[in-house]
Amino acid sequence: MSRRITLDEFIVSKQKSYSESSGEFSGLLRHLGIAAKIINRVVNKAGLMDILGSEEMMNSSGDAVQKLDNYSNQLMMEYMANSGICAGIASEELDDFIAFADPISSRSSYVVVTDPLDGSSNIDVNISVGTIFGIYRRLSPEDSPLQLSDFCQKGKDLVAAGYVLYGTSTMLVYTYGDGVNGFTYDRGIGEFCLSHPNMVIPDHGKIYSLNQGNANEFSDQIRSYIDHVSNKNYSLRYVGSMVADVHRTLCKGGVFLYPGTVKNPQGKLRLLYEGNPMSMIVEQAGGMSIDEGSNRILELPVTSLHQRSSIIMGARKNVEEVMSFL
Ligand code: AHG
Ligand code: MN
Ligand code: MN
Repeated sequence: MSRRITLDEFIVSKQKSYSESSGEFSGLLRHLGIAAKIINRVVNKAGLMDILGSEEMMNSSGDAVQKLDNYSNQLMMEYMANSGICAGIASEELDDFIAFADPISSRSSYVVVTDPLDGSSNIDVNISVGTIFGIYRRLSPEDSPLQLSDFCQKGKDLVAAGYVLYGTSTMLVYTYGDGVNGFTYDRGIGEFCLSHPNMVIPDHGKIYSLNQGNANEFSDQIRSYIDHVSNKNYSLRYVGSMVADVHRTLCKGGVFLYPGTVKNPQGKLRLLYEGNPMSMIVEQAGGMSIDEGSNRILELPVTSLHQRSSIIMGARKNVEEVMSFL
């Protein structure tokens, strides 16, 4: 059996090809990997700790916050702050961004956007959840305070994006703009090991993924698309965790959609820390990602931390098939 390549070894081996100042950037990726391992450990034994259930509070998006949301958010903040290579963080669970005050962090070149725990509604029923992250180069001078504009950058300007899927196995999948690579957590050695080198999405698949329970709230165009694929006996698969649904789409092709609804006319998913990082990964794997106006997600202006966008992402031919109805 060939020797396994750990995430750390992979990052170092790619260091020279990173367009970014490699030392800092590699270190940031490594710290994200450590945070993922610790969240994984808690997710895997959530039923044995007082960490299930709700915090009886709402986040900026009006979602009920689960205990594991908060725990994961605290962890991501702690590891990003301790990395000394991240100037600040914007998170689904934080109303505003946080700039790290220590003199080393405050002068570093990168900021992180994150959905620390994606798919919260699935935690208590032991269904896959995830973590999503994106890395931007800060725009403000390194000796000045962080600005909102350091975070509100278009998705096409992401330096790197990735997700962790806490599923039947725990996987970390990321891109820094040169293709997509997947790592599976090996509990025996406590490392993420390269298991899915150079992930490429099939150009088509017969799976569509959306919350069909909202069908009466979708646009006529989306409803026509659903009728169309129902007559082509596509399969409907929907986990309710974006990370799980998009990872399956990356592996098998097909399309994931979260269209606008009466409750969320712009769609429920947040552009900064769900839509953009996942779109970078899907595009880097050869897929497409658009909104209901057929606009490329990665080109959408980001004007606020928690702004929402409709999402249609997946295999090129599947997204083009949806576009033909928009
Ligand atoms: P989060 O738990 O971070 O708020 O994300 C949940 C999102 C996303 O993971 C998933 O695709 C979507 O909510 C499911 O929404 P519905 O339950 O409305 O289908
Ligand atoms: Mn989410
Ligand atoms: Mn979340």
